[in-house]
Amino acid sequence: MHPHVEKILLNEQQIQERVKQLGQQITADYQGESILMVGILKGAMIFLADLVRNIEIPTFFDFMAVSSYGAGTVSSGVVRILKDLDKSVEGKHVIIVEDIVDTGLTLQYLLENMKSRGPASLKVCTLLDKPDRRKVDIPIDYNGFRIPDEFVVGYGLDFNERYRNLPYIAVLKPEIYKG
Ligand code: IMP
Repeated sequence: MHPHVEKILLNEQQIQERVKQLGQQITADYQGESILMVGILKGAMIFLADLVRNIEIPTFFDFMAVSSYGAGTVSSGVVRILKDLDKSVEGKHVIIVEDIVDTGLTLQYLLENMKSRGPASLKVCTLLDKPDRRKVDIPIDYNGFRIPDEFVVGYGLDFNERYRNLPYIAVLKPEIYKG
């Protein structure tokens, strides 16, 4: 275990099993179609990479980067597009892939933005859902795990850009968050 980690919330095996189930569910739901997975950088990168390898229908992917938290652990509610999609989503079956839905503000913005581009359908897939801090009601179609109100890192999620490479989801020791 990484020396900065206080506890592991979800281990590698739990994550892999759940990601496999999500892939199977998406495969079943979109039989006969192809899908466009829109990964939200950078947090969803590792989740998306594992998820698409468990999907057995034609799958395309694209990425968007948005700013949400800056360097802290509190959502500002201000969303800015840092990198936009490479191609049009018009007429495509789009699934937005997020690492975590916390306040929901980022996803609310992304959903509105994506809807205006005219996809054939639009769904949301998130690895983690932290419902305690939700500020806006967001429809989540595929959710990996519901977690308590704790700031987590690993499997793509960061604290000040660190710990994304941990293969599990963990809570850091309090002194690390204080810097
Ligand atoms: P929201 O707009 O509050 O829902 O925040 C969504 C974004 O905040 C996520 O995509 C993450 O990048 C970041 N975030 C929220 N909670 C956590 C956490 O516990 N650990 C790491 N990043 C988080």
